[in-house]
Amino acid sequence: MIERLPSGNARLDEILNGGLLKNAINLIVGVPGSGKTILSQQFAFRNATAEQPALYLSTLSEPLDKILRFGETLDVFDHEAVREGRVIYEDLGQVLGDDGLDNILTAIDGYLKDLRPGIVVIDSFRAFHAVASDTTAFRRFLYGLTRLLSASATTAVWNAPYNRDQALDAAEFAVADSIIALDVGEHAYRITQAGFEVFPRLADVYDGSGYELSSERSPTGIEALDQVLGKGGYWSGAATMVAGPSGIGKTLMGLHFLFRGAEMGEPGILATFQENETQLKRVAESFGWKLDGSDVHILSRSVVDIYIDEWVYQLLDLIEKTKARRIVIDSLPDVMTAAADPTRFREWMFSLTQRLERAGISMMMIVEVPELFQLRRISEQGLSHLAATVVLLQYVQEGPELARALTVLKTRAMHHHPVVHRYEITEKGFVLGDVLSLTR
Ligand SMILES: Nc1ncnc2c1ncn2[C@@H]1O[C@H](COP(=O)(O)OP(=O)(O)O)[C@@H](O)[C@H]1O
Ligand SMILES: [Mg+2]
Repeated sequence: MIERLPSGNARLDEILNGGLLKNAINLIVGVPGSGKTILSQQFAFRNATAEQPALYLSTLSEPLDKILRFGETLDVFDHEAVREGRVIYEDLGQVLGDDGLDNILTAIDGYLKDLRPGIVVIDSFRAFHAVASDTTAFRRFLYGLTRLLSASATTAVWNAPYNRDQALDAAEFAVADSIIALDVGEHAYRITQAGFEVFPRLADVYDGSGYELSSERSPTGIEALDQVLGKGGYWSGAATMVAGPSGIGKTLMGLHFLFRGAEMGEPGILATFQENETQLKRVAESFGWKLDGSDVHILSRSVVDIYIDEWVYQLLDLIEKTKARRIVIDSLPDVMTAAADPTRFREWMFSLTQRLERAGISMMMIVEVPELFQLRRISEQGLSHLAATVVLLQYVQEGPELARALTVLKTRAMHHHPVVHRYEITEKGFVLGDVLSLTR
């Protein structure tokens, strides 16, 4: 097994198969500002020990004081590690400026012998290109350096401030054992004070292996809906879709699902883009529920500042932390807006649904539709097939009055003859009324 040096960030290490390749050359490629310096410092601090310190070499293109000034603002930066010599910063800029590449080799050779570092970062490699008289001289330097590094059994990190195309042409690309590209690509990441955080793309491949879809039906806790569904309630552990126009009661239905679920011993999460906690508290209180200290948890984000990949993981983390059995997403169109890309959105929803279903967690997906009356199709971005139960809420005009109506469009693959029931929202919850005949 090839040994790896971890970054300390579980998700990043996961997509790097454990971290940097040990005793090898790891190239970090990315345009200026993409986070190479932070990522490499994170690796340095995480892996530095008294016996095998981390050596951080700056060059002309990344002056040492700039690296330090910025590095010190990060949580990973450990002053004690620097004071005690576990992490050592050195400036190659001077050597490079005066004497060129040959003396760089001599200087690095000296550091390797004196300090015996377990990890050596060069930030950045571009400066070496600039001082090389021609490509032959650069290649000679490159092989000399590779020899030195492999002889001393150290893990090298070379930061290369190139874009994808430039990186392919760079000679160091050919000698690198591993390449980490910081780019607009597979996995989203964010640089914060906590360091380099990555959100692995949630695109689970379709998992064909069979799993027990719960054949259990249990009450949703929404009386009107349970009555219409009959036979004990909804398919728990599966997804339910609730669609309807604004103000019809979708969010309330979600809250009933969660608070009644909590009363039955199933913790829940409302993942919402619609209301904040204060607003939700007020609504909950009108039904006699308390948010604080309850087993209903709120993940409230605004669609404008949401970072979809980060949000997915916040949700998954919260599910793990709260041991949630019921999740309400309010609403799918908001997630769609945040995802910006329909393919990513579908991929994301598919993965999430599959994960939750396998874990036996019930999800209610709320969809807001623009039509107030006589809805015939749900514009749900082709996701209703993910739901075992689809519930439609709509307004019906009865003379001068506007009534609310509820229809179950399908339960588990079976579409059945839809019956339209009137319902009312009272302080007791959703109260079922007569069957309405919608002949128009
Ligand atoms: N405690 C309550 N009792 C009765 N009706 C309520 C109560 N709280 C809210 N409502 C009604 O529910 C409706 C809002 O439902 P809501 O779930 O926010 O709609 P949606 O999410 O579909 O836009 C409003 O018409 C409001 O009058
Ligand atoms: Mg709502």
